[in-house]
Amino acid sequence: MKTTIRKVSSFGHQDHLVLFTKDKAKFNTTFFSKAEQDFVKQEIKNDKKLIGINQYNRWIFLAIIERGGKEQYIINETARKLGEKLLARLKALQLESVVLLDEGLHDEIPAFAEGMALGNYQFLKYRKDKEKESSHFNMIKIQSKKITDEEIKLLNIVIEATSIARDLVNEPQSHLTSTVLAKEFQQMGKAAGFKTEVYDKAKIKSKQMGGLLAVNLGSTEPPTFTIMEWKPKKAINKNPIVLVGKAVVYDTGGLSLKPTANSMDYMKSDMAGGAVVGSVLYALAKADLPVHVIGLVPSTDNRPGGNAYTPGDVITMYSGLTVEVLNTDAEGRLILADALHHAKEYNPELVMEFSTLTGAAAAAVGQYGIVCMGTASDKVKLQLKKSGNNVFERLAEFPFWEEYDELIKSDIADLKNIGGPVAGAITAGRFLQHFTDYPYMHFDIAGPSFIRLADSYRGKNATGSGVRFMFDYFKGLAGL
Ligand code: BES
Ligand code: ZN
Ligand code: ZN
Repeated sequence: MKTTIRKVSSFGHQDHLVLFTKDKAKFNTTFFSKAEQDFVKQEIKNDKKLIGINQYNRWIFLAIIERGGKEQYIINETARKLGEKLLARLKALQLESVVLLDEGLHDEIPAFAEGMALGNYQFLKYRKDKEKESSHFNMIKIQSKKITDEEIKLLNIVIEATSIARDLVNEPQSHLTSTVLAKEFQQMGKAAGFKTEVYDKAKIKSKQMGGLLAVNLGSTEPPTFTIMEWKPKKAINKNPIVLVGKAVVYDTGGLSLKPTANSMDYMKSDMAGGAVVGSVLYALAKADLPVHVIGLVPSTDNRPGGNAYTPGDVITMYSGLTVEVLNTDAEGRLILADALHHAKEYNPELVMEFSTLTGAAAAAVGQYGIVCMGTASDKVKLQLKKSGNNVFERLAEFPFWEEYDELIKSDIADLKNIGGPVAGAITAGRFLQHFTDYPYMHFDIAGPSFIRLADSYRGKNATGSGVRFMFDYFKGLAGL
């Protein structure tokens, strides 16, 4: 269910309330009878962080968010998770809305609301019991003098954009081919106000995007290459920032077929990078942020098939470099390389690329963060890491040393598409670097973008990982 967050200046006596306290020894007693206060105290003693009182005409919850000398971004994450816990209780009670009351504790309220709203996401499209399963909860009211309308507007936007990314990633390839994905981007552009252009197979051929064409050879579906642009009148950046996203709508591994047990089950999520890029453009345009951003999304599926590319093939990439394919499952870097080469046309000040690129990155950090590496300045990297912390999509920077290039040297071509047995996430990143001539950051989201077990407000299945991170970064650039 879509959740709307809005400011209110008062509430009615039927409204369910959430009170907050940062100090469990002190809470606002005016709403409670003596017996209720005793109950709350007992619950606090039992170390409960969320205490619910069922009053005659409403529920009142007390949320305890202790600071304990922790950094604000850690406290905010506690608040998001507590928000999701509350949401679960409200859903069980079939309640539709709640008022979050700022009585002095306001720093964590937006994060708390965000956790509730993101936790309320559902993907029920293909279920006949969707009416029954659908959450009744749909409205978070915030009563606060400190939280601005603008802040709430941006919060609603980033939540919607994250849900869009989740929808796209949850959508199976049976319903989301590269062509359909490109159409989705066009619709998003129309709805939010950014420009889109889609290259079809003929155009991709005429451009000689050899990486994208090679991966597409085994498919019966044509590839697409989508260009999105958000160019506001008063952009603060002179040269555009380019986002690139991998959109392999399904990755079987190709002739280097993945083992069918488990490893292929969720490869519909191999377009998560592309979903991040489209959704970020959507959020930027909706929020009218003064940053000039271009999004590039190369898309195909990767399959064995009559004409599929094979291990041993040499392909000529869009940039002119040749690549010896030694594993057709290392396909992401091939389609991304062409997009990164295309990005040079814009003379970008920074290019940031998102991809579910390697199992090695997922193995290294799991679902708990985003693996990053690149050639951007330390200043840019520091800002990115701050944004990662702000939204708790934390970055783990890997080395990007030139020496790793030794592992992707080919005997017969300029590069090969796999490295050795070590540093798989890094050799993938280094491969891509050969197609850049600008400050470049690579974000490998193979770990966090799709998770099998529910993780608080991230939910289960598609998480939309990367969207909130990028939006926070651009907000920062815009001085918000
Ligand atoms: N899409 C996969 C990476 C992936 C793995 C994403 C698990 C999400 C979860 C990618 O195309 C791939 O198959 N990479 C190979 C590269 C290898 C052949 C060099 C990998 O990581 O095993
Ligand atoms: Zn693959
Ligand atoms: Zn892949």
